[in-house]
Amino acid sequence: MSEIYKDPSCSPQQRTKDLLSRMTIEEKIGQMCQIDGHLDPEMWIRERNIGSFLHVIDDEAVRLQKIASEETRLGIPLIFGIDAIHGHAFYSGATVFPSQLGMSSSWNPDLIEEIGRITAKEVSLTGLHWTFSPVLCLARDARWGRVDETFGEDPYLSGVLGSAIVKGYQGTDISDPYSIIACAKHFVAYGETQGGRDSSECDVSARKLKTIFLPPFKAVSDAGCLSFMMAYHSIDGTPCSANEWLIKDILKKEWGFDGIVITDWDNAGNLYRRQKVSPTLKDGCKTSVLAGNDMIMSTPEFYENACELVREGVIKEELIDEACGRILLMKFRLGLFDHKRYPQTGNARMSIGCEDHKKASYESALESIVLLKNQNNTLPLTDNIKKIAVIGPNADDVQALLGDWSFGPRRHPERPTLEYNSNYDITSITTILEGIKKRAGCDIEVLYEKGCDTIDPDIQNINKAVETANKADAVIAVVGDTIVLNGEFRDRANLDLTGSQQKLLEALKSTGKPLTAVLLNGKPLTVPWIKENVDAILEAWNPGMEGGNAVASILFGDFNPCAKLSISFPVAVGQQPVFYNQYPGWHTDKYIDMPVEPLFSFGFGLSYTTFEYSNLSLSKTKLTQTDTLTVSVDVKNTGNLKGTEIVQAYVNDMCSSVTTPIKELKAFGRITLDPGETKTVNLEIPVSSLALIDRNLMSVVEPGEFEIMVGSSSMDKDLLKTIFEVFIEK
Ligand code: BGC
Repeated sequence: MSEIYKDPSCSPQQRTKDLLSRMTIEEKIGQMCQIDGHLDPEMWIRERNIGSFLHVIDDEAVRLQKIASEETRLGIPLIFGIDAIHGHAFYSGATVFPSQLGMSSSWNPDLIEEIGRITAKEVSLTGLHWTFSPVLCLARDARWGRVDETFGEDPYLSGVLGSAIVKGYQGTDISDPYSIIACAKHFVAYGETQGGRDSSECDVSARKLKTIFLPPFKAVSDAGCLSFMMAYHSIDGTPCSANEWLIKDILKKEWGFDGIVITDWDNAGNLYRRQKVSPTLKDGCKTSVLAGNDMIMSTPEFYENACELVREGVIKEELIDEACGRILLMKFRLGLFDHKRYPQTGNARMSIGCEDHKKASYESALESIVLLKNQNNTLPLTDNIKKIAVIGPNADDVQALLGDWSFGPRRHPERPTLEYNSNYDITSITTILEGIKKRAGCDIEVLYEKGCDTIDPDIQNINKAVETANKADAVIAVVGDTIVLNGEFRDRANLDLTGSQQKLLEALKSTGKPLTAVLLNGKPLTVPWIKENVDAILEAWNPGMEGGNAVASILFGDFNPCAKLSISFPVAVGQQPVFYNQYPGWHTDKYIDMPVEPLFSFGFGLSYTTFEYSNLSLSKTKLTQTDTLTVSVDVKNTGNLKGTEIVQAYVNDMCSSVTTPIKELKAFGRITLDPGETKTVNLEIPVSSLALIDRNLMSVVEPGEFEIMVGSSSMDKDLLKTIFEVFIEK
């Protein structure tokens, strides 16, 4: 019989069918396994025909790929996966971009697509094919440890930016050796778990899932995302990885998703071990397959158990064929059987961390830093400033720039392989202090004092910091949080500044010097004192390897900031949730001891210039359900500097069969204007995007009036408003 699966002229589907017909049940189950590549990988390849490893890289990936492709019975190549979620950040020398939360503040899909493209190139050059990104969980409770990994709180923005990065990762053709598989995770509503506690129970209704949490995932599925990762938590009692409705009915049937569904780390085992919905580990393995997972991450026991379950007739071979078939199809689509995609050496490898990629990282940092306050035009720093004091624990800290999922201290109590990589080359990373020094040159003196630690209140030298501040014309205080306060297992009950940072700021304020706070943090912090008391605030998130240069450019006015928040800041932790798209309440929606407005609202962000909105107009005021509305608004640059504005359009369904959010982002655009210049911005909103999920869980656009609100942030005071009507065509 001719070996169709080896014939590149046959379609991936024909080749998959042929290969499946030659495989034993054990070989098929082996393909469904993904294991940490440090656990006896050769045994897994030679004896179990494993399908995939995670967290191996470079020479080791080549070695293992050679064994799988050249020394096994059928020569099925491996897929290698890695968490390259803001650049290939575990790889020394690679380009590290701002955290996903940081990049989302750019509201710039083109930029984010480019980040995806560059990451794909660097990942593929080290022999890997799959990144576990993007995260499409919504960050609606800042206590949650993984806020920094998200695109913020809004379903629409997350869907648009998620689709952009997927396009970048996967390119136009997944068989291109520089394209890698994207993975939408964590499916679904993982950020919504109780009290922001990572992977606890999440109680959302099917209607809310369909209204708020599924849409960003649907968007990336429509954009062609080739893999989905299930979440850890359970929804209304059912762990996501055991949720057949979610995986089979919604994802695979309703959305027509034909890629791979992978569990998260040991989901299968934890159905038994922690979530206790399975009486045995074997039952957990069975449930995972029946629910529709195709690949099982890091449950090594899955192999033996699944083999037994098929032999006993508990799992039908067709189910294994379906899962294994999807994995093989992916390998054919990737071209793995034909050109193996071995990492390239020589010149091509020079692209990793090259100047062009670093420039893209710099540009994305510039666009992700949000100017939150600028009293009396404190920024940009003027020519009169000859001495700058840079103070604070994050001023000269590499890890605070790079953030989570990059090299760093052991971040996962159960995952020794992600430990601190002491060989990581940090020389190409520019801290804030270094960036300011470089930009200041010889004419401006830069003084530095750390002042205190981010965590330990006893490690401080505030007097020395004040002495240094007193010698300067302007003070830049670089504070925030640190890696050990973010990530899995790292939820916070308190979002105030830690250590002695608050004391440090108060002492700096007492010097009377112009005080700018640069915040380097993974998530919104509760900093009302800062808002009230410092002169200027830059929210820099974890801005990546070029963060220091980007912050310096903004401080000195080489770049005019244009980023907008993709997440709201609470005034205090108890004010949460403060996301903007709240449902209309009955009793005023507020606490008696807390303002109703967040500290900083979704969509907010200042510029060194000012913009004025006028002439809101609509292409039509009466539309049918199949129409597209064009919203136009004039934006004028009323300041003295060229600047870019992100124009936002929100909609409210004014009366509907179910309650709907008071406003929902439906479109946005950007415009760059010279001083005095006015331009019209047109935004398109298909009426179909105004659908709600009704009481029968059906998606419908209900006829009636809608309010459209256009402006510079989600705050009412920043929005022009008008009404249009949707009617049913007879
Ligand atoms: C995380 C995932 C990640 C996986 C592999 C899990 O603990 O939840 O986001 O992709 O580990 O590293």
